[in-house]
Amino acid sequence: MRTQVAIIGAGPSGLLLGQLLHKAGIDAVIVERQSGDYVLGRIRAGVLEQVCIDLLDEAGIGQRMHQEGLVHGGFDMLFKGERHRIDMNRLTGGKNVMVYGQTEVTRDLMDARQAAGLTTIYEAGKVSVHGFDTNKPRVRYEKDGQTHEIECDFIAGCDGFHGVCRASVPDGAVSEYEKIYPFGWLGVLSETPPVHHELIYVNSTRGFALCSQRSATRSRYYLQVPLTDKVEAWSDDAFWNELRLRLDAGGRDKLVTGPSIEKSIAPLRSFVAEPMRFGRMFLAGDAAHIVPPTGAKGLNLAATDVKYLSGAFIEFYAEKSEAGIDTYSERCLKRIWRAERFSWWFTSLMHHFPENGPIGQKLQDAELDYIVHSETGARSVAENYVGLPLDFGT
Ligand code: APR
Ligand code: PHB
Repeated sequence: MRTQVAIIGAGPSGLLLGQLLHKAGIDAVIVERQSGDYVLGRIRAGVLEQVCIDLLDEAGIGQRMHQEGLVHGGFDMLFKGERHRIDMNRLTGGKNVMVYGQTEVTRDLMDARQAAGLTTIYEAGKVSVHGFDTNKPRVRYEKDGQTHEIECDFIAGCDGFHGVCRASVPDGAVSEYEKIYPFGWLGVLSETPPVHHELIYVNSTRGFALCSQRSATRSRYYLQVPLTDKVEAWSDDAFWNELRLRLDAGGRDKLVTGPSIEKSIAPLRSFVAEPMRFGRMFLAGDAAHIVPPTGAKGLNLAATDVKYLSGAFIEFYAEKSEAGIDTYSERCLKRIWRAERFSWWFTSLMHHFPENGPIGQKLQDAELDYIVHSETGARSVAENYVGLPLDFGT
């Protein structure tokens, strides 16, 4: 088989890239090691920045998002038992975010791909990438007991943190920066109305909590838990009881509980791989970087990588110019490090770090006080939360 761009991974990055290339008349094949249902079963954050919303519109898949997504102009920060609203909309001169689950974005992209009759090879085994240091890269995989090969001009490594693309780069060609946090997030999805119409980020001496939502009738909640906790040991009752203890009196009164539809524990990690280009292979999304979920930057960062990468390929084919390809990595990494910094900082501010002792809590309280009572402090959080412009300082 021959294609222009072979995309590895049918998560949001791979699917969005496929859609943008299709719109531009560039041929792409996606190779995914899991089934479509498996990909849709993964529950991740659900806050879209305007840059990401615009991109989904550009890809022609924004219709359901605009119908069902919830526009939020602010969020609450709860600490020392009191809530303070960050009025993002006012602080950023009118910017908002959209609460719309990543699962739904993925579903919309999958539906569009299927409707357009584009090729996605699901359940591909032993995927491997070859010759990306030449002009004739190839992708090999097994399917139904047979080995197949795709010849292409470029390989897009959209295969997530555990993918094959970054792992295939020669030792020494990539620098990796990583921090693993000493706790995880226990998440519960439930068919219950959200405790509040906006999100609540909670700093409590019992640990961080987050009250999020998917719709007027579906809630998503998280608790900071030790990495050693097992999800099976957390009954629904234990989850709701612990959440109540981390909320304020108003939240406790309003909290509606119910059976969990999904429950899982996710570790928290900051990770960046540099560079993101290796000859004719490019990394995008989680394949190149991970942020802790505080602030929900993961999908938004993936979307901007894909915006730059699709633009670079379009420029290459339309204008025979390699300018976009040559600047891809540097352009992405600038934005990525900004978002890495914010996600790390917001995580450090909101979580409980017993190893930092009582002074750690006092310093966090002082910083939180400063942020909610200073226009400058609040604006700094707000402008990072709504997302940085696509090209800043370039
Ligand atoms: N061959 C083919 N496909 C692979 C391989 C492989 N060797 N390894 C991994 N994959 C697939 C995975 O099964 C997955 O479906 O690549 C896909 C990668 O998808 P994601 O992990 O969702 O990564 P990405 O598309 O970059 O999405 C970024 O996901 O984790 C969140 O916060 C993150 O929201 C962000 C988004
Ligand atoms: C979510 O709704 O899953 C969510 C929202 C905000 C975050 C993280 C996750 O910061």
